[in-house]
Amino acid sequence: MRVVIANDHGAVALKRELASWLESHGHTVVNLGVDTEDRVDYPDKAVEACAEFLKGGYDFGILLCGTGIGISMAANKLAGIRCALIHDEYTARMAREHNDANFVAFGGRVTYAVPPTSILETFMNAKFEGGRHSVRVGKIDKLARI
Ligand code: RB5
Repeated sequence: MRVVIANDHGAVALKRELASWLESHGHTVVNLGVDTEDRVDYPDKAVEACAEFLKGGYDFGILLCGTGIGISMAANKLAGIRCALIHDEYTARMAREHNDANFVAFGGRVTYAVPPTSILETFMNAKFEGGRHSVRVGKIDKLARI
């Protein structure tokens, strides 16, 4: 898969962990995040990664900040982006099966009960179920045009 990833200073280590895991499993990672602890504003990183994703050619994107909250809130302001803040394998699977998320968010300062790489792998292996969920996802996408 081809994945765009971006992070602020609150998630440098977790970004590196996820990017390394993806690359070691044969995926292509485009890193638009920061690699130092110098402060940046997470909305700017969200916009950069989402704009890159919307050019096309990506399977999904990953956004990271300290909690994953701010950067996912920013991403979800943009038309065409459905960013899910996932915490475990259940929310990872549902984000794809029911919500057809095209971005997932993690927090670099969050303590996960299972390794974030397993959460990511669960998301990547899941498939959108369509059907009634397509109607609901369509309604989400229309909100950006109100
Ligand atoms: C930065 O200190 C922090 O606020 C940011 O990484 C994120 O957690 C915001 O939601």
